[in-house]
Amino acid sequence: MKASARGRAAGKVILLGEHAVVYGRPALAAGLPLWLEAEVVAGEGPARFESDRHADDPRAARLIAEAAAAVGLEPRGLVVRVRSDVPAGVGVGSSAALAVAVLRALAAAAGRRLARDEELEVATRLESIFHGHPSGIDPAAAALGGCFRFVRGTPPVVAPVRPVVPLPLVIAFGARPRSTGAAVMGLRARWEADRARHEALFDAVAATVEDGARAVEAGDLAALGRAFDRNQTLLETIGVSAPEVEALAARARAAGALGAKLTGGGAGGAVGARAPDPERLAGALGADGTRTIVAHVGAAAEEAA
Ligand code: PMV
Repeated sequence: MKASARGRAAGKVILLGEHAVVYGRPALAAGLPLWLEAEVVAGEGPARFESDRHADDPRAARLIAEAAAAVGLEPRGLVVRVRSDVPAGVGVGSSAALAVAVLRALAAAAGRRLARDEELEVATRLESIFHGHPSGIDPAAAALGGCFRFVRGTPPVVAPVRPVVPLPLVIAFGARPRSTGAAVMGLRARWEADRARHEALFDAVAATVEDGARAVEAGDLAALGRAFDRNQTLLETIGVSAPEVEALAARARAAGALGAKLTGGGAGGAVGARAPDPERLAGALGADGTRTIVAHVGAAAEEAA
């Protein structure tokens, strides 16, 4: 193994279609210009994360062991250091970014570069350490960046969606971290109890995704905003929203957003909003201390690979 090796991956935003994507419907996602970098060095003792919020998390130790096995490295002695500006627990894909970056660092340490489909397959398996039924959309965004339509599968169907005009998006982060795993499992129980109702709701989500993808490609930002609002209403009906994100979305609309919705697992977390003047909207939402970023979707994230 090399003495030290690095890998990096991007955060992501799900524009439309989260949760329904777990049940085979399409979703629209994009890499964000937020980065997580993992560095692996040779040390002693059991594999571990050093000096980071993952140090005491047993799931993170499992992540190193399984990623090492996937690239043919002995996990013992591996020490992983992480630097990240991807916030955790708010729906912008921090666990997938961690999985992809660690996998890339370990592959580099083993002198390998994984092919795209193998990388996505292993990273999706690694993400399941953090939540039970990952669709694979988060690792795809972390690994590939750009803006794309995604349908789960082995390998998944990933089709680039190219914005004809810059697509600025305001992302506002809720104060309370939440668990994607809990939201996904809660929905699974409700789906088991009434599959027909949920399948119909997922079909309605899929229609908003297709409308949204067309809107992105046509540069019709008002139509994209409407797709955001319809998707948010469906997410509320499906039971994965929360008063905190609904209040944030309502504030965004009142401050001029053309559409606003939760992004990612939900039940807290982040809100994505489309607005004619994103900097002004970000300023208005940030007035009470809410953290915001303005991301130009489909641009910077091409660097992810
Ligand atoms: O909360 P995040 O960023 O991990 O997004 C999860 C997206 C879901 O559709 C809810 C789950 C999945 O694996 O697709």
